[in-house]
Amino acid sequence: MSDLANRLQQLQTDALAELAAAGDAASVEALRATLFGRSGRVTLLLRGLGEVDPAERPAIGKVANEVRGSLETAITERLATLRAADTGDRLAEEALDMTAPGRPARVGHLHPTMTVDRDLREIFHAFGFELFEGPEIETEAMNFEALNIPPDHPSRDLWDTLYVAEPGAEPRQPAADGTILRTHTSPVQIRAMRSLTPPIRIITPGRCFRYEAVDASHGFEFFQVEGLVVDRDTSLADLKGMLEEFARALFGDGTKTRFRPGYYPFTEPSVAFDVACLVCGGPGCPACGRSGWMTILGAGMVHPSVLRAGGIDPDEFQGYAFGMGLDRITLLRHGIPDLRLLMSADLRFLEQFPGGR
Ligand code: PHE
Repeated sequence: MSDLANRLQQLQTDALAELAAAGDAASVEALRATLFGRSGRVTLLLRGLGEVDPAERPAIGKVANEVRGSLETAITERLATLRAADTGDRLAEEALDMTAPGRPARVGHLHPTMTVDRDLREIFHAFGFELFEGPEIETEAMNFEALNIPPDHPSRDLWDTLYVAEPGAEPRQPAADGTILRTHTSPVQIRAMRSLTPPIRIITPGRCFRYEAVDASHGFEFFQVEGLVVDRDTSLADLKGMLEEFARALFGDGTKTRFRPGYYPFTEPSVAFDVACLVCGGPGCPACGRSGWMTILGAGMVHPSVLRAGGIDPDEFQGYAFGMGLDRITLLRHGIPDLRLLMSADLRFLEQFPGGR
């Protein structure tokens, strides 16, 4: 083989080694120029082809073509490899691996008390009750007087009240207009009667406040759902039938219930409504104070003077009302031992109750 052919092959060996050593696209491009540029090493050697003996020319020409071809291919491939590995290459960086498993999205859920709230709304909606809401900041006149609880009446002690202070007064004193945080949702009964005309059939869920020392079963902030029905010929039997159906809808078909006499100034007669203990089912256990029963709400026939305060003639209309604590129902439903957990905002606790969304 001629000298030229040897030099071409030597050049190929050297160039491939240099190419392998080139660490980035720019040095590959520079190498390409030193090989194939106007006075590049390959270019110069090929120019020598003209002086080769015509008899040997085809064989050497073949070698020359192979060397040029293999170097060009090697350069193209090396560039592709380097570009793909180059983190500065936007395209390579943004390439999406469609086969990679997705990242799971963190989806939250309702607080267990709000899941109970939603369930109650659904049940009462099915019973034909409308939603009617009232303010959390109330007046003593609405929260007490209109509900047949006069000032200084001993029954006022049943509702330990948080008073809203007179603006700017020092020392602080209750606002002169009797502004308070509502201690129950019952004042919304009055608001509903004043703005709706019978037949009235509403529930009113909402937040209430009491001046309580906080412990496992008392909070200063809690949720109630109040119900009010006003119509001609509404009776205690209607109230009992409706509440029994309600308990079955909320706690299940076999739920046992009972009514006991109760006392509220704004209902007459008044009842307490119990369900068979959700923990022991009847025999008695620590959760139900060994009685076998749990009280879930207070209710009764709306007192005539409350109907009058709502602008409704008690000789023409009767009504029943009931009120229940959502927090307590939430504790019963899940067997949660301490009310304070509900207000803790502790995800380790809350994530155990993935109820509603
Ligand atoms: N408002 C009462 C309470 O907070 C509950 C209740 C409502 C009782 C309606 C009777 C009728 O304890």
